[in-house]
Amino acid sequence: MCGIVGYVGEENPKDFLLESLKKLEYRGYDSSGIALQNNDNIQIIKCSGKIQDLEDKIGKSNLIHSHLGIAHTRWATHGEANERNAHPHRVGKVTIVHNGIIENANELKNRLVNEGIVFCSETDTEIACAVFNYYYRGNPIEAIENAIQELKGSYAFGILFEDQDALYAVRKDSPLIVGLGENENYIASDILAIADSTKKYMLLEDDEIAEITKDRVTVYYNREVINKEVLDVPENVESANKGTYRHFMLKEIMEEPFVLRRMINHYLYHSEELFDITPYEEIHIVACGSALYAGMIGKSLFEEKAHIRCVADVASEYRYKTTLYDRKTLVILVSQSGETADTIAAMRKAIENNVDTLAIVNVKTSTIAREAKYHLFIEAGPEIAVATTKAYLLQTAMFSLLALNAAHKKGLEENYDLIMKNLQNLPSLLKKVLDDKDYIQKMAIDIKDARDAFFIGRGVDYSMCLEGSLKLKEVSYTHCDAYQAGELKHGTISLIEDGVPVFVIITDDKIKDKTESNAIEVEARKAKVFTITNDESIKTHYDKYVVPKIDDYFQPILVVPVFQLLGYYVALARGLDIDQPRNLAKSVTVE
Ligand code: F6R
Repeated sequence: MCGIVGYVGEENPKDFLLESLKKLEYRGYDSSGIALQNNDNIQIIKCSGKIQDLEDKIGKSNLIHSHLGIAHTRWATHGEANERNAHPHRVGKVTIVHNGIIENANELKNRLVNEGIVFCSETDTEIACAVFNYYYRGNPIEAIENAIQELKGSYAFGILFEDQDALYAVRKDSPLIVGLGENENYIASDILAIADSTKKYMLLEDDEIAEITKDRVTVYYNREVINKEVLDVPENVESANKGTYRHFMLKEIMEEPFVLRRMINHYLYHSEELFDITPYEEIHIVACGSALYAGMIGKSLFEEKAHIRCVADVASEYRYKTTLYDRKTLVILVSQSGETADTIAAMRKAIENNVDTLAIVNVKTSTIAREAKYHLFIEAGPEIAVATTKAYLLQTAMFSLLALNAAHKKGLEENYDLIMKNLQNLPSLLKKVLDDKDYIQKMAIDIKDARDAFFIGRGVDYSMCLEGSLKLKEVSYTHCDAYQAGELKHGTISLIEDGVPVFVIITDDKIKDKTESNAIEVEARKAKVFTITNDESIKTHYDKYVVPKIDDYFQPILVVPVFQLLGYYVALARGLDIDQPRNLAKSVTVE
């Protein structure tokens, strides 16, 4: 959420800052800005809207000569997304960009207002900036040290002091790295922003302060200089581009067979690397949004196939509730970004209770990847579209592999060899589904004017409904709800009216007749029933799409992409901003 970049070197920072902001735009995109410094002259240019709007504004400005600058792309937390609230913020001699939330901002503001500070924006960032300025007496490290003692909450700051020829950075519970270049150095909140410029970087830990000039990086902790390890940018962090696709979302959906094959091949030959869940008596899968819905599929599989007790819980609830860890428990954190604030908090709760943690994560340098006791990387590559597709798919596939492995280990899966053999065909079957995109696009055009849509299914089909419903609502702004098919009669069926689309997922043979009856019930209320099934023999109501039938461990992998494409094509038909839907941001680093 929000993106930070900074540059110090020999060039004018403008080009690096703008290019890097574009790479981070998916993290927040309601306003942006840059600050360029030349000795005590600081020029700030900012605006609401996309980075393109900032670029246009910069193009019309006379820029100062500079070799030091910071920039930001924002996802509004405190105050509306307008130019006044956009970062950078300047108070006195200090200019900052900020990711995170300062929780005691109001308290600090009252004190500062009493001291005569006048604030121009509604942001917590400007208040933090005033705190840095308050403590600044010519020694930046001292000012930052004193300020962070006062700031409660999460933060990553890029900081300029008008009489210092260096860039400063500090973070807590919000990522920030220092990139190391040739006669230039950088800061960034996401490794993607610097991966085209350097392959070396340092990871700042909580409350470490970096002082960065073009040829030197000094890191302090508790006012002492510390040695920092120089790390290599992981290989698969390449800067993502859309290639021939119009949108990242479609490109990422179409990459699914490739990334899935890569994962399957890896574990076919290195099954020993698959984490063994069988020693645990209870598993808690904790995540947010789509990652949770992937986890819910995991929960069904762990219980049904491997007979291991499991709960799947929303991280924002799990972190605060009373949890009994009275059995040998494993907490699995699922996160594409590895930076979701609630999932991090849930992980830390488990760690504090001496409970084992396993991260299923995409971004290898992320907080969750680093702090969890064990990790499994899904290796989806960069996912840029805000709505997750390929990462969700690989999270689901990881759960399928873990469940299969556990069922095999416990002697509960007699068809193990056959299932492993079939697994090799899975990516081609997925490609076949994606090749039907024209059919799915027709479905999308059929429902493009619908105000509401419903998704019903039972068991694991219900977990897929949740993801289908989320995909359609978040990118196309259709109001969608997902229900366990049997639950519809307990109230929601009163919303079913003439022509409302109802997507019915039926893949589980054991309960297909039951879900089928629920489909008939909504059809009787004149709903347009679209059935998505793996069973040719299921009756066609209004429309039906049949996916190939495979071992039920892996069936969701052939169903959910239908809904990813559906959401995409409805949004396309409505002319919406598909990769950056309104109000959203790629990684939710605030509570
Ligand atoms: C929906 C979506 C979100 C994320 C959720 C968790 O398309 O992308 O629901 O799944 O915000 O994010 P991560 O996986 O980064 O923890």
